[in-house]
Amino acid sequence: MWGAMQSDRTARGADGSGSMFDRIAVRYDLMNRVLSLGSDVRWRHRMVAALGSPAPRSVLDLATGTGDVACLVARRLARAEVVGLDPSEGMLAVARQKARVRGLGDRVHFVGGDAEALPFESASFDAVTMAFGIRNVPDRRRAVGEMRRVLRPRGRALVLELCEPQGHLLSPLVRLWNRQVMPRLGALVGAADAYAYLDRSIRAFPPAAVFAATLRDAGFAAVRFERLSFGAAALFVADAPA
Ligand SMILES: C[S@@+](CC[C@H](N)C(=O)[O-])C[C@H]1O[C@@H](n2cnc3c(N)ncnc32)[C@H](O)[C@@H]1O
Repeated sequence: MWGAMQSDRTARGADGSGSMFDRIAVRYDLMNRVLSLGSDVRWRHRMVAALGSPAPRSVLDLATGTGDVACLVARRLARAEVVGLDPSEGMLAVARQKARVRGLGDRVHFVGGDAEALPFESASFDAVTMAFGIRNVPDRRRAVGEMRRVLRPRGRALVLELCEPQGHLLSPLVRLWNRQVMPRLGALVGAADAYAYLDRSIRAFPPAAVFAATLRDAGFAAVRFERLSFGAAALFVADAPA
C-alpha cells in the first residue's frame, strides 16, 4: 500500500523539490535550529499537541523530511502507528536513522511519495500532519484534496507553515532575518540557493486566511488557524466531516 513514487518535478530537481532537499539533508536539522532560533521545535510540539482527543491511532506525516514530526507523534502517542512520506530519499535516510536510534522503528515507517498523489487508500488515517511542507508543493489544492481523501470521517489535518509576518511590531525584524540573514547562513554551509529559495517560498505562500479557504474548499468541515511567534508561522487545524 505504501509504495515509492517520484514526480517529474522531483526528477528535474526544481526549487523545493525532493532533489533540492537531497542536497541539504545532512545539514537540515542543524540549519533549522539555527535559522529559527529553536522555534521550529516549539512549533512542532504545538502541532502535535493539537492532534486532540481521542488520540489518533494512525497518523500520516506528509513532507516528513528528516522525520521530526513523525518521531514526536510516535513518542507522544504510545499506541499510534505513524507513516512519514517524502519524495527526498536523502531526507528519508536521516529520518529512518533517527527513528531507529530513538527506538521507534517498529511504529514509524517512512515511504517515498508525493503529497499531490498519495499512495494510500481513501479513509485510511485518523490524522494527517504536514510541517513546513505545503509551501513546496506546486499544486496545493491537489495536496489538500489528497489529505482530505485519506482521512477517515472526523479525522484531523494539521498544517504548520512559515509565513511572511505582517502587522506586528517585530514583523520587520523577522522579514529582515528571512531576507538578509537566512541566505547568508545558507551560503556558509554551501547551500545558498536552497536558503534563498526558503525566503522566496515564504513570501509566495498565501495569507493564512486564503490558505484556510483552500482547506474549506477541499471539504473540511471546521477550519481554524493560529499565528505563532509574531506571525512567523501559522498552524492550521482542519477537521473532516462525520
Ligand atoms: C522544509 S522540509 C520539512 C520537513 C519536516 N516536515 C520538518 O518538520 O522539518 C520540506 C520537505 O518537503 C518535501 N517535499 C517537497 N515536495 C514535496 C511534495 N510534492 N510532496 C511531499 N513532500 C514534498 C521535501 O523533500 C522536504 O523534505
